[in-house]
Amino acid sequence: MKPSVFRPRPARIVCAAVFLLFLGALVLWAQADMTGYWAFRVTDGGVNFFQLQQTGDAVTSVAPAGRGGGPGRGGTLAGTLQNGKLHLVATSAMRGPAPAPAAGAGRGAAAAQTRETVYDGVVENANRIAVTMTGTGREPLKGTFERVTREEAYPTRIPPPDLQDVPDNGLVRTPPMGWNSWNKFQDVFDDATVRGMADAMVSSGMAKAGYTYIVVDEGWTSGRDANGNIVGNGKFPNMKALADYVHSKGLKIGIYSSPGPQSCSGKMGGGYQGSFAHELQDALTFAEWGYDYLKYDWCSAGNVYSNTTEDNRGAYQKMGEALLKTGRPIVYSLCQYGSHDVWKWGAKTGGNLWRTTGDISDRWDSMERIGFANIDIAPYNRPGHWNDPDMLEVGNGGMTADEYRTHMSLWCLLAAPLMAGNDLRTMTDETKSILMNADVIAIDQDRDFKPVERLSQEGKSEVLVRPLSGNAFAVGLFNRGDSPAQIGFRWEALKFDTGLYGFRRLQAQDLWKHEAVPTTGDSFTATVPRHGVVLLRVSIAGGRGF
Ligand code: GLA
Repeated sequence: MKPSVFRPRPARIVCAAVFLLFLGALVLWAQADMTGYWAFRVTDGGVNFFQLQQTGDAVTSVAPAGRGGGPGRGGTLAGTLQNGKLHLVATSAMRGPAPAPAAGAGRGAAAAQTRETVYDGVVENANRIAVTMTGTGREPLKGTFERVTREEAYPTRIPPPDLQDVPDNGLVRTPPMGWNSWNKFQDVFDDATVRGMADAMVSSGMAKAGYTYIVVDEGWTSGRDANGNIVGNGKFPNMKALADYVHSKGLKIGIYSSPGPQSCSGKMGGGYQGSFAHELQDALTFAEWGYDYLKYDWCSAGNVYSNTTEDNRGAYQKMGEALLKTGRPIVYSLCQYGSHDVWKWGAKTGGNLWRTTGDISDRWDSMERIGFANIDIAPYNRPGHWNDPDMLEVGNGGMTADEYRTHMSLWCLLAAPLMAGNDLRTMTDETKSILMNADVIAIDQDRDFKPVERLSQEGKSEVLVRPLSGNAFAVGLFNRGDSPAQIGFRWEALKFDTGLYGFRRLQAQDLWKHEAVPTTGDSFTATVPRHGVVLLRVSIAGGRGF
């Protein structure tokens, strides 16, 4: 009998090699390696990118070289990856709203705040970790850490295109009117919410009053498919069907994107997909789905363009040209918070409206600051191209009825876009009376646009005047002070066209009280409540006066 000699057979060699490789992989994973670029994607939410470094079990985020770490780039992380379990804590604020903000509180209010956010996860494989994110004052959010390329996390900056004027699309000869989801819902809303708003727009009478565009703001995308097409997330599974529904109500529909790689950041955390490097593709998609309006929000564009007028203009021009190429009439709404005097060049990018300031919130001081700051730039308005002092907060509950009447009166005198920002399904009669005051809306929508002017300003009292078609004037007596004030003006300050026959008898209507006011004497004076307004329409009795 031959002594048995162990002879490795080929199959055994293969098995041993595979086993060793497997062990090796395990050891490698045990030493772990989160070193590299990662996206943290919230399920149906936004994304934040991190560059991570792992030493032993310790994981920390790396400050991006030469980058400011803008929106969508997450905060500073530190923690551990041990036995397939991830525990990371963000010690500085990610760009986003404060914990549990009051309804309508925009990001602006919270920019300086920090918060602690904790990511606890279980490793699924070397490139993916399932995570629950918790933070002070917020509901836990599910998401994943996914390994990405450097380019995906930190796209290369590109130069803007050569500047040229984009032709006028001929839309919105009077300021657009509609509803936008952001002020009330931020990014916590879905397809059903939007359909409900379209229903309510019609049933409440808002549509009859002129409100037309239902605009889906940040929160609808999940990213791109294999062909690079932008797609909706679980809350917005079929953006075309949503557009069809809104159209079936006789309304128009708007959508939201960014010239940057990601949008800003909502309650869900992180930025949603932006249109950077896919401008024409996205414009064609929006047109194919049937969208009539695009709000295009700067957000993370500062990570790929420089913060200059040329780059701002170039980034907006790209999408303006793309929208025209679709052949579909799409209102183009610029949102870059009024930087670089956008009112001087917004129309050249094809823009129909442009935000002139940072975000409004549902508070008197915010609305007052933004509204009155728009008076001096009112002459930049012209049919088809409008200054946008931001969406309305009327009905969101943070201001008194007098303050909301001031808000509505001021926006209409400014010829501002009127985008309601409240829940149209649950409006009180008072809210309806403010949003649907036909005489006040008529000022906003006057067919012969002429800019509002400041007739007088004394302490906290201001009188604003806007010439209207048909030889009439709108006059707003505003009390920005904290106690009631007597405010007045002389009738002769209104420069009526009196024709050959000289001055005629005037007639004046108080547009909130719905009653005539006496026009006898040289002047008109009223007691205006704190933060309130008296709004008049003054015309020549018996016709145009000549
Ligand atoms: C910016 C805009 C807001 C809204 C949010 C969404 O702050 O100014 O109107 O669109 O982004 O994140």
